[in-house]
Amino acid sequence: MPQASFHFPRGFLWGTATAAHQVEGNNTNNQWWAWEQQEGRILQGHKSGLACDWWGGRWKEDFDRAAEGGQNAHRLSVEWSRIQPEPGRWDEDALERYRVMLRGLRERGMTAMVTLHHFTDPLWLADLGGWETEAVVPLFEKFVRKTVEALKEYVTLWCTINEPNIYALSGYAALDFPPGKSDLNLAARVMANMLRGHAAAYRAIHELQPEARAGYALHYRPMVAARPWFPLDVLERNVHYSAINMAFPTALTTGVMRTPIGSARVPEAKGTQDYFGLNYYSQDTVIFDLRKPGELFGRRFYPKDADLSDSGFNANTPEGLFASLKWAERYHPSLPIIVTENGIECADDHIRPRYITQHVHQMWRAVNFNWSVKGYFHWSLVDNFEWERGWTQRFGLWELDPETQARRKRRSADLYAEICMENGLTSEMVTKYCPEIYDKMFPG
Ligand code: FCB
Repeated sequence: MPQASFHFPRGFLWGTATAAHQVEGNNTNNQWWAWEQQEGRILQGHKSGLACDWWGGRWKEDFDRAAEGGQNAHRLSVEWSRIQPEPGRWDEDALERYRVMLRGLRERGMTAMVTLHHFTDPLWLADLGGWETEAVVPLFEKFVRKTVEALKEYVTLWCTINEPNIYALSGYAALDFPPGKSDLNLAARVMANMLRGHAAAYRAIHELQPEARAGYALHYRPMVAARPWFPLDVLERNVHYSAINMAFPTALTTGVMRTPIGSARVPEAKGTQDYFGLNYYSQDTVIFDLRKPGELFGRRFYPKDADLSDSGFNANTPEGLFASLKWAERYHPSLPIIVTENGIECADDHIRPRYITQHVHQMWRAVNFNWSVKGYFHWSLVDNFEWERGWTQRFGLWELDPETQARRKRRSADLYAEICMENGLTSEMVTKYCPEIYDKMFPG
């Protein structure tokens, strides 16, 4: 008998999450591929290239890995530029390939969650101004209708848009995403149009499939003031918190998007989610900094003693997952919550086992307050193309050599398999995979 075990409710979804451009390979017809060809855009000049070669058929072996690892669900995204390569042309073969993939999940006993927009836009849409103008809304709705009609036999769980806040802020403020335009007003406009697109998609999905459950995935960053007694740190914490996190949550609950970088009335967005999708990675500390006018006079960082990922991009701050779930439960009291992404980059896998263990433990605490957490998707199944950071960051349970396409299992894959099969976490797993945190998890 293990000394302790933390079990989850029956039917809990355990899976991994992926996105089309990061795993399929040869997605040549979207704005990210074009961005990768420009010098200086991607770390070390990396390119997505073949990615994990899922379009070439390697999804089969990776789905086998997931299923053998006890996963009962998988979140993937479809690529708009494949399904609609030109404004007036639908590619039925591409839709058929997605049907085959989704059937592949079903055959392996896995529930599919499908994201309709995960950072990439067809080139033709980018040429029309992407999400900067309202013209995108009916175009997105058309794409959603076509896709849902074709795939609904295999999918009831839909995610309209992944991390609209990151798409807008990275593309129009941080400038590490296309189109790399420095313009906060435009960022707010893009978010408002994404809200309109989401609302239109939500209604279209329900019209076509009444039993569907639709929502979006928010990149949510809990934040603490560096010096809680210093009003300017608290102010900056609130400004950053609201600018980064709150555009979608305010609009979906009130019909008005309110953020420090811009507001908009979007009445049609009110109430358009059947679950709350949470992407959680790390918690930030915020400090007032006069030298950062472009960042609204605040700086976000991880404390000196933080348990950091290889590049320092993520910190292992599991208490932040608990805080996020608590916020989600209070902000959307009637909605189920799905952790749609959570993970850490680490090539040699020294930090990931304790990251997974501690986050699953915090999620279990939330479940035990009867907060309605229904599933967890780890980012990610296999190392994949990590946007502006190219192949420098490795988020996979499985290691990938993008040159040879060889996969190698990390220890975290075994740990995660034990969690999925047990539908919970045990003290034996902690002893086996991350003994360094045993005393912290089981004091005394
Ligand atoms: C999230 C993205 C996902 C991946 C992870 C590491 O912000 O949704 O595509 O890049 O970060």
